[in-house]
Amino acid sequence: MAPFCHRSGTMLNGSMPIKRKTAANKAGRKTHAAKIAGNGAGNGHSSSIRPLLALEVSPSISPRNKIAIPQFHGSAATGFLHPGSAISVSHFSVEDVDRILTEASELEAMPVARRALCYAKRRVALLFYESSTRTRTSFELAAKSLGADTALVSALSSSIEKGESLKDTGITLRSLGAECIILRHPNSGAPYLLARSTGLPILNAGDGSHEHPSQALLDLRTILAHLPPSARTAVKQNHSIHDRVLQGVTVTIVGDILHSRVARSNALLLPKLGARVVFCGPQVLLPEYAAAIGPGVEIERNFERALKQSNVVMMLRIQKERLAGLEIDLEEYIEQYQLHKQRLAAFAPAAIILHPGPVIRGLEIASEITDGPNSAIAEQVYHGSIIRMALLARALDAYPKRNEHSSKRR
Ligand code: CP
Repeated sequence: MAPFCHRSGTMLNGSMPIKRKTAANKAGRKTHAAKIAGNGAGNGHSSSIRPLLALEVSPSISPRNKIAIPQFHGSAATGFLHPGSAISVSHFSVEDVDRILTEASELEAMPVARRALCYAKRRVALLFYESSTRTRTSFELAAKSLGADTALVSALSSSIEKGESLKDTGITLRSLGAECIILRHPNSGAPYLLARSTGLPILNAGDGSHEHPSQALLDLRTILAHLPPSARTAVKQNHSIHDRVLQGVTVTIVGDILHSRVARSNALLLPKLGARVVFCGPQVLLPEYAAAIGPGVEIERNFERALKQSNVVMMLRIQKERLAGLEIDLEEYIEQYQLHKQRLAAFAPAAIILHPGPVIRGLEIASEITDGPNSAIAEQVYHGSIIRMALLARALDAYPKRNEHSSKRR
């Protein structure tokens, strides 16, 4: 297929928190001095939450490394969901994806003053048990731009710190008039518990290693914007996403697949639209069974061979907060899997580069790539704000209006 289009990324400055190998390592001893090892405790949430959720979601356990692999498919698991919810991309048909993207484009094109009347005074709660910059801010700004009132509850500055459960927090927010809750949580499956407890539309802003559906949708919108001009025009004219819209596009996702809700959501979504998805990374972060995450997903451990086949390269951060005792030799990782200028120029000079963020410059990706002409990282953030408006509109349309102030568009 024709090369993808490039636009320049923005200049950002970042630090490089990497430990280097000791002389002992360099001499070939087996100890890892240059490593990240996580405690698996997550951050910003009370540990009292975990046993409750463990009962609710029953994840299967991989015997090799005892990492939980969430399995939440099938109607028994989802029958109680409010139709405005967005918890897993596995719940979306191609037609659903088309509707969300069409809604996103309509809202994007709408005059700001008119948009602010669409959901005036509707109430949206943001419930964040983990830190976030992009997802939290873009959901909040998206809700405000639709005219909705927002309330942020974060684990460290609320009664969650005193031990209040997710269920009781959700019921409290509903009693306060929340018509939709956006949830980020370190436990895979937490949005299902909140959905069952409250009956409200729940938008999953990232749950453990399970899913990040709004991220996959914004990644899709970014990829579509970089299709060759003829294909892009066809999508625009027909207003139509179909199951072959990404035929001929290979998307390689590189790095910490094991802990990545972004990889999971993309591997479920992109093949539905005809894309080929390749996972690339070392065994410790990419076990063989990860290929089963999405239909037709392939594994290629050699980064340079993977790059050669790629139209889109999605780099992932090593999630040190979820490593749970796994140890990574960073120097070796950088040598084999860092995306830098020479590697990109030699093996995938026309590929567009995505990263869900936060980017750890100098580790998984070099600064010159983050800021370079192939990077669409800043564009991803823009598309996130548009996609999140559409997801909020879908949620609030599906939920009975409680006040008379908002003027719907349709
Ligand atoms: N991509 C993403 O989820 O970023 P944040 O953690 O900053 O929300």
